[in-house]
Amino acid sequence: MTISLSEDERALVDRFEQAGQGHVFRFLDRLDAAGREALFRQTEEIDLTRVAELAATAGAPPRAPGNLEPATVLRPDELPGDELREARERGEDLLARGTVAALLVAGGQATRLGYDGPKGAYPLGPVSGRTLFEWFAGRLRALADRHGRPVPLYVMTSEATHEATVEYFRSRDWLGLGEEGVKLFRQGMAPALDDDGRLLLESPGRVFVAPNGHGGVFEALQEHGILDELDARGLAEIFYFQVDNALVRIADPVFLGLHHGAAAGMSTKVVEKTDPAEKVGVVVRRDGHLEVVEYSELSEAQMEERGPDGRLRYGAGNIAIHAIRTDFARRVAEGGELPFHCARKAVPHVDADGAPVRPASPNATKFERFVFDALPLTESSVTLAVRREEEFAPVKNAEGSDSPETARAALTNRARRWCEEAGLSVGLHGEGVAFDLELDPEFVLDAADVRRRLRQASP
Ligand code: UTP
Repeated sequence: MTISLSEDERALVDRFEQAGQGHVFRFLDRLDAAGREALFRQTEEIDLTRVAELAATAGAPPRAPGNLEPATVLRPDELPGDELREARERGEDLLARGTVAALLVAGGQATRLGYDGPKGAYPLGPVSGRTLFEWFAGRLRALADRHGRPVPLYVMTSEATHEATVEYFRSRDWLGLGEEGVKLFRQGMAPALDDDGRLLLESPGRVFVAPNGHGGVFEALQEHGILDELDARGLAEIFYFQVDNALVRIADPVFLGLHHGAAAGMSTKVVEKTDPAEKVGVVVRRDGHLEVVEYSELSEAQMEERGPDGRLRYGAGNIAIHAIRTDFARRVAEGGELPFHCARKAVPHVDADGAPVRPASPNATKFERFVFDALPLTESSVTLAVRREEEFAPVKNAEGSDSPETARAALTNRARRWCEEAGLSVGLHGEGVAFDLELDPEFVLDAADVRRRLRQASP
């Protein structure tokens, strides 16, 4: 069968052929009109210059290690009391003036968790079964209540998660945040390339694409007009967090206050790495610029090296919580220069005959941008160390480490600590979790809130 193409369609096919990517149209004659239309629509969006750049990235040698030095890390328990108080007050003032937005990135495919739905809809409350989204929304409602101004929630989704996430919020009445209090927007997608730099077809009528990484957030904020909206609403600071951290203290005033006080463009929370072999990115200075380096980029000696205080010198483990000034986000978006990182993956596709192939080993390179690659662009930044057991319990895997089970245990343990610090014995013993315990995030924001609630209950 010969398909007659419009002038525009012919031009599109020609462009792909000239770029060595004409094979994406090889099944045109097998597609019905709607299928062809969908393929043309998808391929029109693919930037072939960018594809060529990605192919070059995939073949590029790893970057030189450069001169690494540890980052300067602030530790709340080492800060003078008045500095800490001042930071808290400054952060609270930002919240009371309604200048802070929460930015949740939730566009990832959550392949390791293997959950049938957006990760944020995963039930995680140890007692209530409340979902990750409900944890976050509860905290946001509590912040609005405490400071008198809402912290609007911006959620980045992707083609992989958008519809289901919108449906989740809509069908639950926007989790009590009001429709105007939640805005969902999609990030961009990036193709995968085989070893010859060719695009892969996921099916005869669709090119394989995947979300372009959490670093796609800057571009997406700009493309969807959200940076303009933030400016118009006077939201000068963004609290960035990821969907998988059940313990995140959204809009933590101390962090916001330190970041703002330092006139920082972008700041980061870290946890102290104790095990040199822990596979976590580390905040360092490379050739004078702040940066997150991957675990694999440290030499064995650097990984093990300890300072006079006994701490790992390269131990500032990145937990993907940032404060970002809105105008800094705009600068990053307009620069458009965050690098793409390559990852070899097994990418399912169709072969030259259109038969599905599920490779057992990596057959292609996927490309992602990382949000922390914006760090070297900021002139000023705060790196704040926080306690892991208080603020970081990621849900990555279905079982074992960083799983729903470990996150629920972390929530129970934190609830127990907060209760005990307030003098409330909850009948749990030692470190083990004797039973599940949960504090409603809307009822208590932190350990001090438990004391306050207790006083209210028995004046
Ligand atoms: P991860 O790197 O853990 O990826 O994302 P993931 O997609 O959730 O999980 P796996 O690797 O497929 O198992 C960390 C955070 O960044 C977001 C995720 O939604 C999560 O909040 N993310 C990741 C995006 O928003 N977009 C992306 O393209 C990738």
